[in-house]
Amino acid sequence: MALDQRPGCPVHADFDPLSDEFLADPYAVMARLPLAETPVFYAPAIDYYVVTRHADIEAVLLDPGTYSAGAAQLPLVTLEPEATEILLAGGHRPQPSMVSLDPPAHTRLRRPTSRAFTPRRVTEMEPRVRATVAELLDAIDPSAPFDLVEALTFPLPATVVFSFMGVPEQDYAQLKDWCGHRATLAWGRPPAAEQVEHATSMAAYRRYLRELVARKAGERADDFASALLAIHDEDPDALAQEEIASILFSLSFAGHETTNYLIGNMLRRLLEAPERWDAAAADPATIPAVVEETLRHDTSVPFWRRKTKRATTLGGVDVPEGATLFLWLAATGRDPAVFDEPGRFDPARPNAKRHLAFGKGIHFCIGSALGKLEAQLALEGLSARFPRLRLVPDQQITFHPNISFRGPQSLWVDPRG
Ligand code: HEM
Repeated sequence: MALDQRPGCPVHADFDPLSDEFLADPYAVMARLPLAETPVFYAPAIDYYVVTRHADIEAVLLDPGTYSAGAAQLPLVTLEPEATEILLAGGHRPQPSMVSLDPPAHTRLRRPTSRAFTPRRVTEMEPRVRATVAELLDAIDPSAPFDLVEALTFPLPATVVFSFMGVPEQDYAQLKDWCGHRATLAWGRPPAAEQVEHATSMAAYRRYLRELVARKAGERADDFASALLAIHDEDPDALAQEEIASILFSLSFAGHETTNYLIGNMLRRLLEAPERWDAAAADPATIPAVVEETLRHDTSVPFWRRKTKRATTLGGVDVPEGATLFLWLAATGRDPAVFDEPGRFDPARPNAKRHLAFGKGIHFCIGSALGKLEAQLALEGLSARFPRLRLVPDQQITFHPNISFRGPQSLWVDPRG
């Protein structure tokens, strides 16, 4: 630890959330950092102030007057001018969607999204989610090891969220591909040579969603896009078709990788201690608590970002106006001031729900109920079908090189025990 030009602010010069070491095991890095003494520190590798305590992050999320959401999707690297031009020409701005906007622009998109994303619509997804889980499990050969990510955790949320939105099935694969480019562009460190390809994909992705909305305007159905169009019909000035496309841009990504990785992290944590898997399989009533404990212990969205609108003090550190903040959501789940023995995975923990995995305040995750439902039904279906499931030993689990979405890229299991 050293001090640089930020007086009074500790610096951890080695902290790099995109280093191989960090990607492989961020919790080991977390355990070595003196977080009790330095709950807020500066990380020169990314030029962000890192905030780690549950109470501090909660305070940031609940104070949009001081902390702007504008940094949520900013690339970590300076983009090549050609890539920036392609993005702007494609209608993709530095604050490209709801989660990066502050009021009143945020409210303009959030309000119709909440109106169309009703609890009824989520409840009605249950049979569809169950059927999709069953279909995916039917396709597995029960006599040989298989990759759970490819077979279940990746296709399930993609199918669920795209069908919820009203995307035609033949386009799912294309959307999944664009989501991969989006993750690298906004949350990774794409080399200059790759940036034009990512930017071109982003422009095509946005064009596709604009065209989808225009087509849906003439072919309504019982889906989320049509529900937004009905709100547009009431008052076209209050919600433009371009804004509907932007909301779909939010959902298509937010409802996909987050949930893929949540289910992957949950299955990994259960299977790495087989008695946990056996307990969940024997008593499905415990499954909702397993999902909450996964969100606390090993969330799929470990970091989120904010930017200060004015100078402030956070965790005892003076932070200037315009500073970019790295909110370490995964560290809040391990905060000993809130959770006893935070390193222990324990679905019986009474207060797991205090996790901040879905954020808090005006940007609180709109899809939290849907994401949890998918995770529950995935575990219910999988454990009923393969109660003796075990991890294939000695496999190397890898993670996509980005800061904000974390879960296994593959998870090999043996259904025969
Ligand atoms: C299941 C795992 C999920 C996790 C861990 C997660 C996490 C988050 C987080 C951390 C935020 C930002 C909160 C903030 O800035 O304060 C967020 C926002 C959001 N999430 Fe999720 N999410 C998940 C699933 C979903 C699903 C399934 C959907 C939709 C189908 C969704 C849609 C959204 C949207 C639209 C926002 C932006 C809300 C706004 O800016 O007002 N998420 N989510």
